[in-house]
Amino acid sequence: MRWFSRRTGLLAGSIAALALTLLNACTAPAVLTSVLGKPVNPHEVTYELRRPVYKPWEEFTMMYNTKAPEQTNWAEKLAALPRYEKGDINWVKALDDGLIKPKPGIDDSAQDEETEDFMVTMIPKESPDDKAYYPHLPHTKVLSCKNCHNAIFKKKEGASDFTMQAIKKGEFCGVCHGSVAFHPKDCDLCHVEPAG
Ligand code: HEC
Ligand code: HEC
Ligand code: HEC
Repeated sequence: MRWFSRRTGLLAGSIAALALTLLNACTAPAVLTSVLGKPVNPHEVTYELRRPVYKPWEEFTMMYNTKAPEQTNWAEKLAALPRYEKGDINWVKALDDGLIKPKPGIDDSAQDEETEDFMVTMIPKESPDDKAYYPHLPHTKVLSCKNCHNAIFKKKEGASDFTMQAIKKGEFCGVCHGSVAFHPKDCDLCHVEPAG
């Protein structure tokens, strides 16, 4: 051990002393806190489950899939609806017979409206014999006033001047008759005065 002289011994001694002083200084709470932030107490770490607990298939079947939705036979229901002579569905009779129960409107807050019961007799200027009859009662059973007034008809007899041609093109009565209500080919329904 020739290299270990008294001098090297002294040097090693002072290095060790210096290291101790430095270590002491470093473990002083103030210095540590300034470098690492406040000390944190050890605590338990909890992890979320990576996926839900496994449930066997039977449980899902019992909870959600116990019975198939009831099938509605729409073709049968349609076939049961009453019709006019020329074959179009008579929605007003279907309503009177209780076969359909339409909601008052799309809005949940929609309310049924009072019906209006009066006939408008329409007399064409050029051919006064070809009178047409517009009954408010059946219409207001299935429609609200707003469906026609005032977008299609003004609230005044004779206020709109229109012809059969316009109706066949889908205007005035033809907005509905020919699409959702009986077709204009069924002349008698509008041109023969209803009995009573
Ligand atoms: C399917 C369409 C339609 C609906 C729905 C409808 N009306 Fe009419 N209404 C008419 C037509 C057609 C006329 C005649 C307009 C014309 O001759 O130009 C008329 C005319 C009127 C007139 C004028 C009568 C006169 O003597 O001048 C009043 C009032 C009226 N309607 C009230 C109502 C009320 C109230 C409702 C709702 C309860 C209603 N209508 C729903 C089609 C409708
Ligand atoms: C949905 C009801 C409706 C039906 C269905 C209908 N009409 Fe009309 N028709 C009218 C109305 C309303 C007028 C106009 C009355 C007026 O001018 O005031 C009219 C007018 C007429 C006129 C008078 C001239 C003209 O062209 O306006 C004739 C003719 C006519 N219709 C024939 C027919 C024939 C034929 C059929 C069957 C193929 C028929 N209509 C079916 C409602 C109807
Ligand atoms: C907003 C739609 C609408 C308009 C516009 C309209 N109708 Fe109707 N109309 C109906 C509906 C719906 C019925 C129910 C009958 C059906 O299923 O066809 C009906 C039924 C009728 C009936 C038969 C009623 C019964 O007791 O069977 C007549 C007559 C009639 N409309 C005439 C007219 C005439 C004339 C006009 C034009 C002046 C007119 N309608 C305009 C929707 C309309």
